[in-house]
Amino acid sequence: MHEPRAKAILERMGATPQSGAGGEELQSVNPATGKAQGSIRAVDRAGYDARVEAALRRFDEWRMRPAPKRGDVVRRLGELLRRDKEPLGELVSLETGKIRAEGAGEVQEMIDICDFAVGLSRQLHGLTIASERPRHRLMEQWHPLGAVGIVTAFNFPVAVWAWNAALAAVCGDVCVWKPSPLTPLCSVAVQALCERAAAEHDAAGAFSLVPGGADVGGWMADDRRLPLVSFTGSIAVGRQVAMRVASRLGRAILELGGNNAVIVLDDADLELAARAITFGAVGTAGQRCTTTRRLLVQRGIAGRLLDRLVAAYRTVAIGDPLDDGVLMGPLVTRSAVDRFSAAVATARAQGGEVRFGGRVLDRPGNFVEPTIVVAPRHEAFPIAWEETFAPILYVFEVADLDEALRTQNAVSQGLSSAIFTDSLRSAERFLSASGSDCGIANVNAGTSGAEIGGAFGGEKDSGGGRESGSDAWKAYMRRQTSTVNWGRDLPLAQGIQFG
Ligand code: UN1
Repeated sequence: MHEPRAKAILERMGATPQSGAGGEELQSVNPATGKAQGSIRAVDRAGYDARVEAALRRFDEWRMRPAPKRGDVVRRLGELLRRDKEPLGELVSLETGKIRAEGAGEVQEMIDICDFAVGLSRQLHGLTIASERPRHRLMEQWHPLGAVGIVTAFNFPVAVWAWNAALAAVCGDVCVWKPSPLTPLCSVAVQALCERAAAEHDAAGAFSLVPGGADVGGWMADDRRLPLVSFTGSIAVGRQVAMRVASRLGRAILELGGNNAVIVLDDADLELAARAITFGAVGTAGQRCTTTRRLLVQRGIAGRLLDRLVAAYRTVAIGDPLDDGVLMGPLVTRSAVDRFSAAVATARAQGGEVRFGGRVLDRPGNFVEPTIVVAPRHEAFPIAWEETFAPILYVFEVADLDEALRTQNAVSQGLSSAIFTDSLRSAERFLSASGSDCGIANVNAGTSGAEIGGAFGGEKDSGGGRESGSDAWKAYMRRQTSTVNWGRDLPLAQGIQFG
């Protein structure tokens, strides 16, 4: 039997699952109940090609539309998202299992990036550079790239699309979006708002949806009509996408896994640290790429910090993510639960001691306990070197900041990191060139929950891409360097005389 709540939200948002796509059926299952709540059809190859072609037809006009006018469409999208923040946030909860506050927070992130992009639509500025030649102007300007492929993951089914699409749209690109097959209804709901905003501004085709699984992702990776593919997902799949896009000399923005550590030194505010670690490790049931997975705590305060964490974990209410007071919902699928159990078993086998949690809850839905594992030496504990997308926190004792930094940076991922300390010297060391090697490094703030204003992304196996704020927009445009000679002579660069 289908649960009616998701359907009611889609109706309220004016969204109907797109017809005419002939691919497989993508089922939406509520992870809190295990019940089906609707489905959409994936695109088949012909449907995919038709949508890319329609996007490219729009691009011909879109790239010449003044950027502030393109911003009008994104402003409208932001308004529609403000209006529908509550139902869309609820739909995010129904498909991903994240709690109501986090579902709403995700939609807020979309609204914020729309605001950011609208402002950006009046900027997109290039440089004027001093020319070595008389009466010459040397400058660079930024032009739209084309159709941008956006592949998103289940855990941020709408916000990560918005980071990419809002920027790409004001940059003059058109967007082709493949959402996670686990969150089809969220994508349909967002697409309905996009189509409405686009229709009001004569921009049909600026945003399109190509639902599907790995086959559609593969078409995008190989598609020369998509000069840029922005991919969010696992390191293993990201590596494949990177190679396939690179083999056609396309560009990729990769937002892959993390293995984020929090360092707590003995001069830290432990209350602050415990709260940040709990949010970072338990929030979104440990299914953010920015989730805190490793705690590196200085010897001497480890016992006190662990006591605080265990006390905080005891108060975490687990249950229906839409119920008031619940702080942790379910994992997204049964296989995610299996991966959780396997990781806990492996951690035990490798010498870890489960200090809290570790069990799967015996009730419908994919519920597990938030888990703290006190680990032996980092080098002797391989499970902590990989990312398990579940609320498991591995705790290591370290002697000092040097050891903490070595341990933090030892893993292959490099997304987010944090230090808790009241020492200016330690904080600055952490932020220095010989400190954290991650794309995100925070002081007295946790690893997750970044604002949209900064560039978001990581180093090493985390992919190296940057999305969202700061100058991340440049990845969505092509740079053109131009020299204009306004004199009557033809001086050559490097002083070359020719003829
Ligand atoms: C992700 O998990 O893919 O910083 C993105 C954060 C969020 C985004 C996470 N703003 O945790």
